[in-house]
Amino acid sequence: MPDSSGPDFGNGAENKKLPYTPDVKAKTDHLYPKVAKFIPEIEWQLHAPYIAAINNLKKEKNAVILAHNYMTPEIFHCVGDFAGDSLQLAKEAERSDADIIVQAGVHFMAETSKILCPEKTVLIPDLRAGCSLASSITGADVRLLKERYPGVPVVTYVNTTADVKAETDICCTSSNAVEIVEHAAKEFGTDTVIMIPDQFLARNVAAMTDIKIVTWAGACEVHERFTAEDIRELREGTPGVIVLAHPECPPEVLAEADFAGSTSGMSNYVKDNQPKNVVLITECSMSDNVALENPKVDFVRPCNLCPHMKRISLPKILRALQTMEHEVLIDADIIEKARRPIERMIALPLKRQSMYNQERPAEVIAVESRGQ
Ligand code: 13P
Ligand code: SF4
Repeated sequence: MPDSSGPDFGNGAENKKLPYTPDVKAKTDHLYPKVAKFIPEIEWQLHAPYIAAINNLKKEKNAVILAHNYMTPEIFHCVGDFAGDSLQLAKEAERSDADIIVQAGVHFMAETSKILCPEKTVLIPDLRAGCSLASSITGADVRLLKERYPGVPVVTYVNTTADVKAETDICCTSSNAVEIVEHAAKEFGTDTVIMIPDQFLARNVAAMTDIKIVTWAGACEVHERFTAEDIRELREGTPGVIVLAHPECPPEVLAEADFAGSTSGMSNYVKDNQPKNVVLITECSMSDNVALENPKVDFVRPCNLCPHMKRISLPKILRALQTMEHEVLIDADIIEKARRPIERMIALPLKRQSMYNQERPAEVIAVESRGQ
């Protein structure tokens, strides 16, 4: 029987629990105040040996850890070198002069790093860290869509595989989707854009633009579960609460929210506005991370866990650095084709984050799916 006290690496391997020694204490005491609000001291003593070992190995191997906003606080605040939303992490990967990138996020994010930095070793601590959006569509699906809508530009959400990006004209994230859709239509001289694979993000973008949108029947398994009723109940429970939602939520949820934006858009909103009470309609760890940086704001905490993001843990990050597993490898010709749409997105000067405030009905002209 596996020793249940040891950490799960997600690949059948086991590891002995690392001890909390005076040396570990000396190396990590300065980090504890960053997370003390959410991590009791007894639990910290389990995390600290991994934090010390990871931070040590990072230096030894010239590695960086890119941590998405949905990582748990001990990863986000104590071993992450750069933290942010998908766009910010892609930009950091491109800028970094490290030899090794450990992606504390999901597989498509690690692929994006590899595409932008093919000469670097990119590691994902658990290969099972996927995404329901990325698995909803393939490169072959996109080729069929392009046959069905010839001449219509393809805007692809970064939450997709390298094969899908390789069939794409320009990528987008939730922080720039509205501007990218408008840019693509202008550049290709069309009034229609194919925007895949998130039907809810596409609808939320459609509410902000005159461009006609064809989308795909994909959805984020975390955000699609929120309902307008959830928000109304929250407002009843905490009068005056400010509701921030991610644009992967259905349009009727955004219609009930005070603001919608990418994970960093929500984080910036809290920083800039310091609301008395706030609720983030998104993945659970996001509230913990933002709350630690905004001690005066009270967070109401209904949230949904992303099972893929939660596969990444300190023991798995340590193991990745020790064993160089799991290395993300992509065929050179796919890297070549997939890099162009990501670089086009990064190169586009954007004045501000995309806003989603339901100016028009959130209607797309078609929702395509496999086998239609
Ligand atoms: P962001 O680009 O807003 O960080 O979103 C990534 C993601 O996976 C949200 O579910
Ligand atoms: Fe994918 Fe949703 Fe998880 Fe983000 S939260 S990684 S979109 S499943």
